[in-house]
Amino acid sequence: MKAANREPASGEPTIVPDRAATVEASSRWISGSGRANGGAGVTAIWDRRLVLVTGKGGVGKTAVTAALARAAHAAGKRVMVAEVTPDVHTPSPVLSLFGHPRPKGEDPVDIAPRLRGVRLAPTSGHRILLRKALKVGLLVDTALKSAALTRFLSAAPTFPEIGILFQLVTLLRDAKDDHLIVDLPATGHAVSLVSLPKTVVRVIPSGLIGESLSEVLAKMSDPKHTRAVVVTLPEQLPVSETVELVAALGAQGLHVGAAVLNRVPSTPFLPTELSALRAWIDENNPPLLGAKELRKLERALQAKETFYAQVPNTASRSELPLFDGLDDRQVVERMAKVLGEVS
Ligand SMILES: Nc1ncnc2c1ncn2[C@@H]1O[C@H](COP(=O)(O)OP(=O)(O)O)[C@@H](O)[C@H]1O
Ligand SMILES: [Mg+2]
Repeated sequence: MKAANREPASGEPTIVPDRAATVEASSRWISGSGRANGGAGVTAIWDRRLVLVTGKGGVGKTAVTAALARAAHAAGKRVMVAEVTPDVHTPSPVLSLFGHPRPKGEDPVDIAPRLRGVRLAPTSGHRILLRKALKVGLLVDTALKSAALTRFLSAAPTFPEIGILFQLVTLLRDAKDDHLIVDLPATGHAVSLVSLPKTVVRVIPSGLIGESLSEVLAKMSDPKHTRAVVVTLPEQLPVSETVELVAALGAQGLHVGAAVLNRVPSTPFLPTELSALRAWIDENNPPLLGAKELRKLERALQAKETFYAQVPNTASRSELPLFDGLDDRQVVERMAKVLGEVS
């Protein structure tokens, strides 16, 4: 992890894997050799205080969030791993990966020395906000016990998001952690969450809400402070959606520092061998047992080509392999190891 804190001389780290090296290293994934530099791009986010992980549902967002937190923690950083959740009464996917499936209440939980976890929920943010506004804890608790008020706060447009962002800014003000790594909601919701501060600040520029959202806006749009990591799969549609997501987040002023192609299947073939095999199959049409698997592999490799061709190289692009036959926590351990090994 030596390179993790190194800022390239040019200022902005745009660590783009060399195309040829990527192809060459594709059967070795992100190797520790540093040649397929992709993972170094992901670890370059260690320079950023706020890391927002997003992508389409099911792509491995939560696993990558947990793995980034693990890798940063293993590198000696003080880490807060967080997830956006509709409420704190449901089990926590991220924290269950750290042995806390049902954290009680809304305060951060201690996972290990230097490693904490928290959920960002509208109600938690509203409580902090009201506490600041009313200054009397008892009043806040009474107010939040009012079903009518909580219903209003969670139903009024933008209020749930304001709650989440308010909690986020409160955590960012607390200088205890080197990194706040957040599992954001899936694509569409993430874009609206990120775009909200700008809209609200335009309408209410001052006061408690306006000022807090201005602060969040300034931090999120500062590439020295914040990085988004977009996770995707080696399939055409998710890759195309990722290209759109990177653009949509960029348009909201959130810089995507890394795009991660997750669950890349391993291939025993070099690209040249694969195309020779394809040509031979097409010509001879033999009854092959693995024909379907081969098609799948080819499709994944095509999607991978599209990933490198279309995801802008202002984001570092990396791959994580498909870890077969492992449970969720083992997947995270393996991912963290891959991310941590590359320096
Ligand atoms: N590279 C991988 N190899 C194998 N399994 C993976 C990999 N990435 C994620 N998974 C598994 O896929 C499932 C969905 O991942 P998850 O992180 O919950 O997705 P998301 O948060 O995007 O919905 C989980 O069971 C997770 O362990
Ligand atoms: Mg998830």
